[in-house]
Amino acid sequence: MKLSCATSIVFAAASVAANLARRLPDPGPDGKYTLTAPGIRAKFIPYAATLTNLFVKDKFGIERDVVLGYDNASYYPVDPEHPVYNEVPGRYANRIGNGSFTLDGVTYHLAKNDGPNTLHSGPNNWSTRFWNLTDLTNSSITFSIYDPANSTGMPGHVEANVTYFLEKNKWNIKMEAISPDTRTPIMLTQHTYFNLDAFANPSTNKIWNHTLQLPHSHRNLAIDGNALPTGEIVNISRNSIYDFWSAPRPLGFATARADFANSCGSTCNGYNGQWLLDSDTPKDDVVAKLSSNWNGISAELRTNQAGIILYTCYWMDGLILMKSTQGLVGASKNVTSSSCIAIEAQDWVDGINHPEWGRLNKQIFGPGQKYEWEGSWTFGLV
Ligand SMILES: *[C@@H]1O[C@H](CO)[C@@H](O)[C@H](O)[C@H]1NC(C)=O
Ligand SMILES: *[C@@H]1O[C@H](CO)[C@@H](O)[C@H](O)[C@H]1NC(C)=O
Ligand SMILES: *[C@@H]1O[C@H](CO)[C@@H](O)[C@H](O)[C@H]1NC(C)=O
Ligand SMILES: *[C@@H]1O[C@H](CO)[C@@H](O)[C@H](O)[C@H]1NC(C)=O
Ligand SMILES: *[C@@H]1O[C@H](CO)[C@@H](O)[C@H](O)[C@H]1NC(C)=O
Ligand SMILES: *[C@@H]1O[C@H](CO)[C@@H](O)[C@H](O)[C@H]1NC(C)=O
Ligand SMILES: *[C@@H]1O[C@H](CO)[C@@H](O)[C@H](O)[C@H]1NC(C)=O
Ligand SMILES: *[C@@H]1O[C@H](CO)[C@@H](O)[C@H](O)[C@H]1NC(C)=O
Ligand SMILES: *[C@@H]1O[C@H](CO)[C@@H](O)[C@H](O)[C@H]1NC(C)=O
Ligand SMILES: *[C@@H]1O[C@H](CO)[C@@H](O)[C@H](O)[C@H]1NC(C)=O
Repeated sequence: MKLSCATSIVFAAASVAANLARRLPDPGPDGKYTLTAPGIRAKFIPYAATLTNLFVKDKFGIERDVVLGYDNASYYPVDPEHPVYNEVPGRYANRIGNGSFTLDGVTYHLAKNDGPNTLHSGPNNWSTRFWNLTDLTNSSITFSIYDPANSTGMPGHVEANVTYFLEKNKWNIKMEAISPDTRTPIMLTQHTYFNLDAFANPSTNKIWNHTLQLPHSHRNLAIDGNALPTGEIVNISRNSIYDFWSAPRPLGFATARADFANSCGSTCNGYNGQWLLDSDTPKDDVVAKLSSNWNGISAELRTNQAGIILYTCYWMDGLILMKSTQGLVGASKNVTSSSCIAIEAQDWVDGINHPEWGRLNKQIFGPGQKYEWEGSWTFGLV
């Protein structure tokens, strides 16, 4: 009796798995899953929970692919050193100072993969793993990951789901994660790289003439030469090189200033740091607005996260090619330094090493708790 019961459970489980597998279609001929809603079309792959393409119309009525990535879906895993191209790094995004942290009396040491620090959890990070496709509708897609204990040197296993869903002109993102067994750091982001011109602006392929406004960011985190927060919280004064609160500004408004040099770390010109959201930021307000002065496309970020990272692609080495949906006929297809911007909403970078910031309850999760990230990008014309 016991045996046959167990056997039927196994059969039931197998048939549920088979149904699930049957219910979820294969990707399209390009190896990608395509979702559509009025005014927006997007493509995704399970590898790293990646957004590969995002099409919206510009003021000329032309559809532009406004995010970076590869045409070839199979190429992402072949090139593990690729930028975190619209992927979900984890389980702890961005930098961990000295690759170590102490939790509940135990000091953990991770692999240092970014100078003296750990970036995006180091080797075997979530942005180089094959996630599972676990749900798919015409307008939504869900990817899931089971991250075993110690996979990147952190305690306990973590389970996470990332759901992307489209509405009219809008890309929504929802992430949930749990650590059922033990307390561990969890901090995620959607690491989205934009060039709203899709590299088709004949006057520039750089990002400096995109306009940015961060209306609720009056403070940022000071960084050292390796772009690691020093711990200092800076009030951003009006007209400083970090001031995107007082007015919308071209991203390159300060490029000629002396203090712009090395502003994203040693020998790095541009931005690579975190702007904090004011504590009185109204829920659901736009916290970042990026737009192209050339084709009029605007992108507005809303998020439940407490900060926004900007990285203006200084380290793009010119050896990666843009997609066939991007660029100008006859022009170079190479993605060059300062030709894009990554915008990443997340909690305060390296907060696990700065208890004085009071972020531990937003970055350490254990049994009975749930990590929740929500955000959206709304597209329009300026
Ligand atoms: C896509 O990338 C894979 C892995 O590098 C390669 O085998 C394949 O030939 C590529 N396909 C195309 C069409 O370039
Ligand atoms: C930095 O990490 C190393 C191990 O990688 C450790 O020996 C050292 O104590 C750490 N330093 C600090 C200041 O935490
Ligand atoms: C993520 O892990 C891969 C595979 O171990 C590694 O090659 C890559 O450098 C890591 N990415 C980052 C951003 O550290
Ligand atoms: C999804 O789109 C296909 C093709 O347009 C259609 O046949 C199908 O009914 C749609 N499914 C849902 C759940 O809307
Ligand atoms: C994908 O699902 C399989 C079957 O449930 C599981 O063994 C595997 O660990 C999952 N992979 C990831 C990355 O979560
Ligand atoms: C975690 O993994 C590292 C690297 O594989 C290994 O050196 C270490 O012993 C592991 N720690 C535990 C507690 O399993
Ligand atoms: C992920 O989704 C599955 C299926 O809906 C659900 O059972 C699980 O609880 C979810 N996990 C998290 C961490 O939200
Ligand atoms: C930053 O501004 C706040 C509020 O205006 C003020 O209380 C704080 O002292 C300032 N911090 C620094 C370092 O100037
Ligand atoms: C930047 O945009 C302004 C319009 O806002 C335009 O006048 C100027 O020519 C543009 N510069 C470049 C280099 O495209
Ligand atoms: C452009 O990228 C390709 C592919 O990596 C590379 O072979 C070529 O040398 C690059 N061209 C320039 C001018 O850097």
